Parts: sequence; structure tokens; C-alpha cells
Amino acid sequence: MSDPVDATTTAAWGRLKELRSSYEPDLRAAFAQDPERAERYSREVGDLYVDLSKNLVDDEILAALVELAEQTGVPQRRDQMFAGDRINVTENRSVLHVALRMPRSESLVVDGTDVVKDVHEVLDKIYAFSDLVRSGEWVGVTGKRIETVVNIGIGGSDLGPVMVYEALKPYVQPGLTCRFVSNIDPTDVYEATADLDPETTLFIVASKTFTTLETLTNARLARTWLLDGLRSSGAVAEGDDAAREAVSKHFVAVSTALDKVAAFGIDPENAFGFWDWVGGRYSVDSAIGTSVCVAVGKENFAAFLEGFHTVDVHFRDTAPARNVPMLMGLLNVWYDGFFDSQSHAVLPYAQYLHRFAAYLQQLTMESNGKSVRWDGSPVTTDTGEVFWGEPGTNGQHAFYQLIHQGTRVIPADFIAVATPARPLRDGEHDVHELFLANFFAQTRALAFGKTAEEVRAEGTDEAIVPARVFSGNRPTSSIMAPALTPSVVGQLIALYEHITFTQGVVWGIDSFDQWGVELGKQLALQVTPAVGGDEEALAKQDPSTQSLIRYYRAHR
Ligand code: F6P
Repeated sequence: MSDPVDATTTAAWGRLKELRSSYEPDLRAAFAQDPERAERYSREVGDLYVDLSKNLVDDEILAALVELAEQTGVPQRRDQMFAGDRINVTENRSVLHVALRMPRSESLVVDGTDVVKDVHEVLDKIYAFSDLVRSGEWVGVTGKRIETVVNIGIGGSDLGPVMVYEALKPYVQPGLTCRFVSNIDPTDVYEATADLDPETTLFIVASKTFTTLETLTNARLARTWLLDGLRSSGAVAEGDDAAREAVSKHFVAVSTALDKVAAFGIDPENAFGFWDWVGGRYSVDSAIGTSVCVAVGKENFAAFLEGFHTVDVHFRDTAPARNVPMLMGLLNVWYDGFFDSQSHAVLPYAQYLHRFAAYLQQLTMESNGKSVRWDGSPVTTDTGEVFWGEPGTNGQHAFYQLIHQGTRVIPADFIAVATPARPLRDGEHDVHELFLANFFAQTRALAFGKTAEEVRAEGTDEAIVPARVFSGNRPTSSIMAPALTPSVVGQLIALYEHITFTQGVVWGIDSFDQWGVELGKQLALQVTPAVGGDEEALAKQDPSTQSLIRYYRAHR
């Protein structure tokens, strides 16, 4: 595997430094001087229309950023990813989420195995299962059809499914509902199951490794809830055989570790597999998306996968200067490296995307929150900005103040769709138009601001003119699509996957491992006996941890 290039040593980085030192952002002037700017800086990928014109760049900067991609080897590493090379160096794994959405007609042979064939075998199994649940042929142990599917998983085994389920609500089969349990806080399982009928509930235990403490604990809680409920109503008899029969009708699993699924007591017949070359945060399009498939049906799930594939093909085959995910990744590198932007807002003007920012937090921050490169050497640039956001217009009434007038540059992605899923009118208003007017207005305000002269011209008292000035030149990218279809949701996810990839390669980091989550997990296991009252274990903790545990024990 090639060594990472230190981006700061490239000629392109030097050029960017030079350009930055003389660049004074002035989007008003940039648009005035170049009436074609909006058109020239807009791109299309699949159904997505992406307007990059309100970013703090000019042609020279963009050209230098494209050179940076080339000089740090982004196109080569992208090709290695698509070829199945083991670019997840620290885990010695291929990174093949792009194979999860390749059409049946394609093949990709890695280590002698056609992974596309394997993918479609599992997909067929998921599609058959989803048909059974949706048609009512799959019944619970008392013969009732399933009404609620509860996905138990955490991280990538939760955030993707819940985000996509919420995004595709209008496509969910009436009479079927999904719920999602992730947290080991027992209130999560409690609230998710409190009003459910065990006879009509199906659990999907989703865990890549099938070792995750939260998920296995919640799965055990759910099994107890199921059996207690069925027994107390007399629906099933006491005894192991009856329990096994009930679990087999009410539990399925998704994992790469099918042996562990069997050991948990779930029939391997009711398990859907995937592979170690799928990272958790890149797995919603694998069997991890089974809950979504059950909810929206196999045709919509297939369209969702096609959406990913459309963007994959664009990313794989398009020259850097026209490559939308690559350009967006490079813009992020530009803001992180040259504007000290430490965060990035993602602001969907689509309420159904209300979990999108939370989903992206794992995708981007677990991928690129690293301080060493893939050869172990320290990075020489900032990496891994904080991604955050909420849907508009809610955010406008909460944190937009800071984006408009704060001291930091916060690049923001605005996302909207032209056709609403629920076209409602308020008397004379098409409410979606009121909504979109805000989407258009915000990026305009951020880019062009309001000068002191303009504020004064409104008759504002001189004392408060400074407070009412908007500097403008606050960078945004606008992403629009015709509608929030399954395909568009897949396209959006793939777009951000490849943006994340591009940034990772420029910084020279392995975007596919997550060692940073391990220490806390180890320590939680080590601390558990102390929490439970073991004085010897307590004495081994540091003084702060000891006092916190003592407080807990005194107040429990
Ligand atoms: O702890 C982090 C992590 O490993 C994520 O990367 C992953 O998505 C999550 O835990 C859940 O892991 P699993 O699917 O193996 O239960």
C-alpha cells in the first residue's frame, strides 16, 4: 500500500497558502464580476443539483484544490478502493461498501470471490423476508401478523437505519411501524416496548460484530420482555422449547458473525449476513438496512441502492474538476486548513431528514477524527471538523445567529427538495413554498450580508447599526433534488461517503478504522465491578472516578 503523502509538502498546498494570503472573500464582487458564476460553479450528479457558487473560492483556488487531490493521490486511492485493495490499513481490510450497491449484472472479484454475487444472494434473502413480513405471511408465535419491527443496534447499526426510515416515512407500508433501540440506558428499551404487543412485534438484532455490549444487553432485555409478555397472557407455555419457538418467530439478526448469532439463540436461518469489508458507518445499504427494507419494500430498497450506485459511478469515473464529492471534500479541506473552520453545518430543509446530521456525525467524525496517518506518522494538518445540524427552519430560530454573525467561518450545506412529500396549503399559501423561500433566503443572506449603509438606509439608529450589519461571505453549498425519493436518499448518503473519503485521503488518514472508541469500552468493563460495589476494584480507580462512583453508590 502506498505511503500517505504529507499534503503540506505538496506544491498545491504551497500554492493554496499563497492564494489564501492574498484572497479577500467578496462574494458580492465575485458574482458582479462574473454573471456566469452560479452556472459555472454548479454541478449535477444523479438527481442532485449542487450549487457551489457561494463558496469562498475562485477559479485559481479551485484549480489548486484539484491539484491537491491529484498530488495527494485521491484518484489513485479511490481506484484502489473500487478494486478491493486493503486500504483500511490498520485493520488490513478492503473497503467495499460500493460493492453493496453494484447491480446484479456486474461482478467484482476480490481474493477469488465475486463479492457482487454474494451481495445479491443476501439481498434476495432480505427481499424474501421483507415480502413475508409485509404480506402478513410471517406471523408471530400466536399466528398474528407483525405490526412493529424494533431494530436493536447502535452506531452504524442504528443511525443509518433510523435516519433512512425517517427520511422515507411516506414510503412505509401502512400498518407497519419501525422503532429503533440503541442506548444501553434501559429507558430506551422500556420506552420502545412499553406500549407494544409482544404477539405482533418482531426484533431485528443488528450488530456487525455481535459483541457490542449495548446491543446484546438490549437484545436480552427484549427477549425477556417478549417471553414475559407472552407467558403472562398465556400465549405461550413455560419451558425452553416454547421459548425457542417464540424467539424464532420474533427475533432475526443481522451480522458478519453468524456463529455468534446462533450462540445467542437466534436461528441462523433467520440471520442476514454481511462482510468485514463493510464498515459499520457505511452499512445501511447492507443487511443492516433490513428494517428499512421491511418498512418500504424491496422495490424501494432497490431504488435506494441504485441511488448510491449512481453517485459511486460519478465518483469513480469523473475527472476531479467535475467530480462533485471530490470537489466538496476539497472545499472542506480548504476551510479546515486555511480558514480554521472547526465545524461544518448540515441543514436539510426537509423535516424527514431530521436525523441526517446525526447520521453524518458518525460517518464523518468516526472516519476522519484521527491524529495519525495510515502509516502511523502524525498528521500535519487539522483533520475531522465537527459536523452538526438540524433541519431548517428550526435551526434558524436557534443557532443560525452564530453562523450569520459569529466570529468563526462555519461552512454549511443546505439541502432541499422541489416537490414535498406532503403538499399542504394554508389558505392561500403553498406551505412548501414558504419553507423553500427560507432555504433560498438563508444562503443569500449568508453570502451577501447587509452593509452598514444598507442598514442605515432603513433608518436604523446609529448606535445599533454595527449589531445589525451582516458581513456576508459565509460559505454555503446548496444541494437540491426533485423529491426525497429512495434513490435521492441513497444519492445523498453516497455523496457524503465520498466527500469523507476525499478529505481522509488528502489528510493521509485511514478513514475506515475507529480505534478511538476502544479505550472507553475497555474501561467501562473494568469499572463495572467497582460500580457494583467491589471495593478492591474501586480502589484501583483514579481519585476522580472513585469519588464519582462513591457519589453514585450513596445516591442510588
Ligand atoms: O464503537 C463503535 C462501533 O464499532 C461503530 O463503528 C459501529 O457502527 C458500532 O460500534 C456498532 O458496532 P456493531 O455493529 O458491531 O454492534
